[in-house]
Amino acid sequence: MGLITGNPPLTRPDATFAAPTEIKYGVGKVDSLTIELQIAPDLAERTRVAVFTDAGVAAAGLLDQVRQAFADSEYTIVAVIDDVPPESDAEFVKRAATKLNEQEVSLIVALGGGSVMDTAKIAAVIAAYGGEAGDYEGGFMVPGPITPIIAIPTTVGTGSEVTLAAVVKDNVRRRKLTLASPFLFPRLAVLDPNMVATLPAKLVAWTGFDALTHAIEAYSCVEREPISAALALGAIELIADNLEAAVREPGPTEARAKMQYAATMAAMAFSNSPVGAVHAIAHSVGALFGVHHGLSNAIALPFVMEFNLPAVAPHYAAVARALGVAETGQSPDALAEAAIAAVRALKQRCGVPAQYREVGVPTDADTAAAITDLTLEDICLSFNPIKAERETILALVTRTL
Ligand SMILES: NC(=O)c1ccc[n+]([C@@H]2O[C@H](COP(=O)([O-])OP(=O)(O)OC[C@H]3O[C@@H](n4cnc5c(N)ncnc54)[C@H](O)[C@@H]3O)[C@@H](O)[C@H]2O)c1
Ligand SMILES: [Fe+2]
Repeated sequence: MGLITGNPPLTRPDATFAAPTEIKYGVGKVDSLTIELQIAPDLAERTRVAVFTDAGVAAAGLLDQVRQAFADSEYTIVAVIDDVPPESDAEFVKRAATKLNEQEVSLIVALGGGSVMDTAKIAAVIAAYGGEAGDYEGGFMVPGPITPIIAIPTTVGTGSEVTLAAVVKDNVRRRKLTLASPFLFPRLAVLDPNMVATLPAKLVAWTGFDALTHAIEAYSCVEREPISAALALGAIELIADNLEAAVREPGPTEARAKMQYAATMAAMAFSNSPVGAVHAIAHSVGALFGVHHGLSNAIALPFVMEFNLPAVAPHYAAVARALGVAETGQSPDALAEAAIAAVRALKQRCGVPAQYREVGVPTDADTAAAITDLTLEDICLSFNPIKAERETILALVTRTL
């Protein structure tokens, strides 16, 4: 009998696990980036570089560090797209794609959080194959390879540096577009703790909860499998041990470095065992009210766990053990409930609000209905362990408000 998982039966007749992105970790890895490129036969000759980033990351001095890393090298930065908007959007991505083609870019550096990395991914798709983001929405719609992406995450949440996914807003239809394709895996992920040293405390908390949500949802979704499960539990343990310290103390600390790893591991898990109802609700609230993705997940997470509990109590018991909940002979169901309590307690200690009303989302019936309608359309809902009718999802959404 497995000590953490209880060794549950395999529930899938077949599965694919893919995590092709090479991962380089180390304090100062960005400074020596060109050496890493030169020793990679497929990257060495790709010398026309575009850097994607956003205003906050540039203001934190990280863009200058990347420029410095490329100075006096065989590589030339031919385009800098440094104004990626938060959670980005389809129009911006299209304009960025035009710049990539104008400058004949052969290598992309995505320096930032999920907003920047996802923008770079989709811009590279449009640069290669034309059209717009919406043309590639859904699974397996990207027709072929894209310009290789070097992903340098500066937040500790999305894990886009190792995933096959990319998300942007469709501002016209006020919804999020999710693309999933094996061609969207970045070529290289550079985890350099210097890149998260400046991340403000609240963004450490919010993005850290995005990673926790990835891990918990991947571990309990309908397409779970053992490799993703191991990565998810490892990530949960790292987050339980390090998130609070990472929130408290800036700098390239051990806690922030471990949160970088946790985010990457959780993302490798959910890239293969997809996320569920938390993300479906969070995407919808994000699209309608501009709530940050990680914060939006953090709010919905315990409510969705309560909702899913009857279907996945043994999995939540394993989550409780990974979170460090003490076992005192309680039943598996009680342990599963303790996982939810532990998530709520961690949120509180990290200063994360409990309900959407605290971040300005209205609580009226029309709002609940609008969020519910978008949630029902979201692809992530299909991987949730409990399927439900509209009225039941509406009741769940209403509890989160
Ligand atoms: N592709 C995927 O697999 C995946 C998974 C989950 C979420 N997402 C998407 O990622 C997006 C959210 O990304 P995010 O949570 O990483 O946040 P973000 O990229 O939107 O960044 C949030 C803010 O933090 C600032 N910031 C980032 N790093 C900083 C640093 N080191 N120092 C100072 N400021 C810094 C940015 O300037 C920005 O203002 C959403 O669009 C979400 O849908 C994608
Ligand atoms: Fe997420």
